Amino acid sequence: MFASVKSLLVCGALALAAAAQNINIALPEALVTVNPGDNITVQVIKPDSLTGSTEVGIAICLKSCTGYTGGCDAVDPTEALGSVLLTSSWAPVYHPDEWYPYQNFTVTVPTSFQSGQAILTATHFALLGAGPYPYTDTANQTINVA
Ligand SMILES: *[C@@H]1O[C@H](CO)[C@@H](O)[C@H](O)[C@H]1NC(C)=O
Ligand SMILES: *[C@@H]1O[C@H](CO)[C@@H](O)[C@H](O)[C@H]1NC(C)=O
Ligand SMILES: *[C@@H]1O[C@H](CO)[C@@H](O)[C@H](O)[C@H]1NC(C)=O
Repeated sequence: MFASVKSLLVCGALALAAAAQNINIALPEALVTVNPGDNITVQVIKPDSLTGSTEVGIAICLKSCTGYTGGCDAVDPTEALGSVLLTSSWAPVYHPDEWYPYQNFTVTVPTSFQSGQAILTATHFALLGAGPYPYTDTANQTINVA
């Protein structure tokens, strides 16, 4: 019984630590309309972590929801990220205009991108804890492509 309580606690702590590593896309805002060929700012926020973490890299991708019955609600971008707009190392830091550390990236919407709703994703890879152990997490934002 003690063992199971302990393993529950350990699992809980790991889940909490992992959740604290989740990133958010603050910009562009949801349902903003962009044009193919536009350069847009993608602001990726990384909330404070409970465990030590080392950010390894990030990928920003765009997947069209056109052709899916149910639109973007029916699309799981983690199964297919779509067009890879940027891959980079990254180092979110504190700026005066946000509570949490972030980094701005500039990406170009592909000129031939299908019009309609699309899911923008930011996927990061981090090393967590003292082990460390590998961790990835994908944040998403639905936008409109004109
Ligand atoms: C986007 O950025 C690229 C590289 O800086 C530049 O050549 C291009 O003109 C920009 N496009 C727009 C639509 O501003
Ligand atoms: C997209 O992001 C929202 C939170 O912004 C989240 O609740 C949802 O699970 C995410 N969808 C996928 C498929 O990851
Ligand atoms: C990030 O981009 C936003 C939107 O363009 C801007 O308001 C903010 O000042 C930028 N932050 C930095 C550190 O450049």
